Amino acid sequence: MMENTFPSSFLWGTATAAHQVEGGNVYNDNWVMEHTPGSPYVESSGDACDHYHRYREDIALLADLGFTLYRFSLEWSRIEPEEGEFSLAQLDHYRRMLATCHEHGITPMVTFHHFTSPRWLAASGGWEAQDTLEKFARFCERAMAHLGDLIPLACTLNEVNIGPLISAMTGTPLNAARTERWFEAAARSVGSDASRFTPFLYADAERGRATILAAHRRAVGAIKAGRGTCEVGLTLAMQDIQAGPGGEEMAAQMRRELLDVYLEGTRGDDFIGVQTYSRQRFGPAGPLRAEEGVERTQMEYEFWPEALEATIRYASAMTGLPVIVTENGIATDDDTRRIAYIERALRGVAACLRNGIDVRGYTYWSALDNFEWSHGYRPTFGLIAVNRETQERTVKPSARRLGSIARAHGF
Ligand code: BGC
Repeated sequence: MMENTFPSSFLWGTATAAHQVEGGNVYNDNWVMEHTPGSPYVESSGDACDHYHRYREDIALLADLGFTLYRFSLEWSRIEPEEGEFSLAQLDHYRRMLATCHEHGITPMVTFHHFTSPRWLAASGGWEAQDTLEKFARFCERAMAHLGDLIPLACTLNEVNIGPLISAMTGTPLNAARTERWFEAAARSVGSDASRFTPFLYADAERGRATILAAHRRAVGAIKAGRGTCEVGLTLAMQDIQAGPGGEEMAAQMRRELLDVYLEGTRGDDFIGVQTYSRQRFGPAGPLRAEEGVERTQMEYEFWPEALEATIRYASAMTGLPVIVTENGIATDDDTRRIAYIERALRGVAACLRNGIDVRGYTYWSALDNFEWSHGYRPTFGLIAVNRETQERTVKPSARRLGSIARAHGF
């Protein structure tokens, strides 16, 4: 008898985001920041995993391992490199990726925006500007017209709350970077200035939230109106927010500000995408550091796989929506710790299912060791290692373990 069982319809996934695995893209705002001296980016994305050319082998490998869902993102800046100029060749590229998933019996889940934006968008007010809603909706419409018949599951925006969450976890004000010299230089290099240049991760908490949630709503409409039938949701960065000694009030306030206001923005959606890596404790004055004696990951997060069960329960109770775990994972160079992490996280998912919570799938972040934003290539989240010189892929034991759990519908 298996201790942890999952329905046969349960989706077993792994995920990437375009820029993190494609790299080499001068058209997006991240490339600009990576190449601005003094920025927090420790290195350039370079060729990343060259997934742009190697997606066929990568998707075939995921199918062979036993995965049934692949979450990836469209790179808006490739599809619309200049405002209003859409590239059919790039849309065809993503169409081939979708077709490859279907050929291998993998359900594709497409994210329409995963952190990076076209540089022209970031330069002209980005994620604080009212007309971004219109621009994002137009991009979603165009993409759906070309790809919609092949997209069964869509996420509008990835981690709509990421800026405020990082700021709360690190205790750094969200707009601190905007007065730094590197930020001004990055803005200038795209013909903008520091007051207008607004990449997704740097949007102001309130103005950013208003723009991002409204953009999500418009995008849901645009995606639903497109070709095919597609279930649509957003994804939220959900640490399990806990109270340290005396921190009950602060933790409750953080839950309201970092989770609840965004969860309320999912009304009318088809699912909620839960993305969880660890817990975050708060004391009366703010975030607490990792607790003494608790193992840390390469990201300095606490090794806390139980956070996933807590956040699924929270998201489900707050929204009443079906849950898809759209990201969960660990950065470690010790793959045995990855296996332990995955198994403990999945025990939590199975417990939720036993209690009747509608969890539809589990997606491990990430398929490949890839470009971890400002941290560069040091943190390794992947189930599959990538040789940075040769691009050779090496399957880690954790990939085989998760794939065999998927095939057996449990463990
Ligand atoms: C993001 C990914 C990122 C991962 C690990 C999530 O915040 O969606 O792009 O690589 O966490 O840090």
